[in-house]
Amino acid sequence: MKDVVHIPVMRTEVLSLLIGQNNSSGLVIDATLGAGGHSEALLEKYPDIRIVGIDADEGMLGLAKKRLKKYGNRIDFVHGWFDDVLTELSTQCSVSAILMDLGVSVFHYQSSGRGFSMFKDEPLDMRLFPGHGITAEEILMTKTEEELVSIFSDFGEVRFAKTIAKSIIKHRRNNNIRTAKELADIVFNSVPSRFRHGRIHPATQVFQSLRIAVNNELSRLDRALSLSMSLLHDYGRCAVISFHSLEDRIVKRFFKQNSNKDNDMYFNIITKKPLVPTEDEIKNNPPSRSAKLRVAELVLCKDGVKHENV
Ligand SMILES: C[S@@+](CC[C@H](N)C(=O)[O-])C[C@H]1O[C@@H](n2cnc3c(N)ncnc32)[C@H](O)[C@@H]1O
Repeated sequence: MKDVVHIPVMRTEVLSLLIGQNNSSGLVIDATLGAGGHSEALLEKYPDIRIVGIDADEGMLGLAKKRLKKYGNRIDFVHGWFDDVLTELSTQCSVSAILMDLGVSVFHYQSSGRGFSMFKDEPLDMRLFPGHGITAEEILMTKTEEELVSIFSDFGEVRFAKTIAKSIIKHRRNNNIRTAKELADIVFNSVPSRFRHGRIHPATQVFQSLRIAVNNELSRLDRALSLSMSLLHDYGRCAVISFHSLEDRIVKRFFKQNSNKDNDMYFNIITKKPLVPTEDEIKNNPPSRSAKLRVAELVLCKDGVKHENV
């Protein structure tokens, strides 16, 4: 992958909230290592933590390995889907913190060549784990109209989902839909003309929905959140940065549903409302604009008494 800079989103907020009191020497999971920006900041600020960094994309792991080489064995790199890796880890260890900075990195949009950006004439692949599962092109070419409508609606809340699905079915009778740009054009031409030149391109949500479907992003998030409860030790924290309302809703609900203090373990929600980037951050790093950060701390009780953190 080429040298493109991915600026870690809400770095300051993550640094001040991810590691709880008395937890500055434990094991931290960076479940979405990416180019390693958040991990680097954490390793610098907390000299006694160790990190397990996970990414589905081996190319991203390669970038992070280069960047974080100087931290030697303070970081381990694991290739895989975070929910699968967390399942395995949950039988082996307990951790002080888990960070999930969801979605894709700037590298995916700018230099992966896998069709994440609707403005590029690249194959419609969209797999974060190359070679794993079906591509966006296969979804578009094989799913029924109803299935396409539900992908667009459930994972993108796409306006005109039915009209767009009909256009795709019509187009694919005689043509393939090979590139991201081709799909963007089909969507552009199928929405009513007055919706073609809004604040965002009319295909934006379609691309989001396909990426979510290709990578099973929402069910992986659900599963990873549940696993956090068996991985975190007392007062361990889970921080999630999400980039659209579907993800944020899942995180919000999960923390809330598990915040009942009468239970043996519960989340103490640190961010009553999600934190968002400052105006300065958005100015310096526009992709951060839709970020929302939620943080919660797991509290374990034994015989009705809270453990003291060690
Ligand atoms: C937003 S980027 C993370 C950027 C990183 N925090 C940094 O500062 O460089 C998200 C990364 O998580 C990876 N990813 C997304 N969903 C994943 C999943 N379910 N399992 C494993 N990796 C995932 C992507 O490949 C991408 O590299």
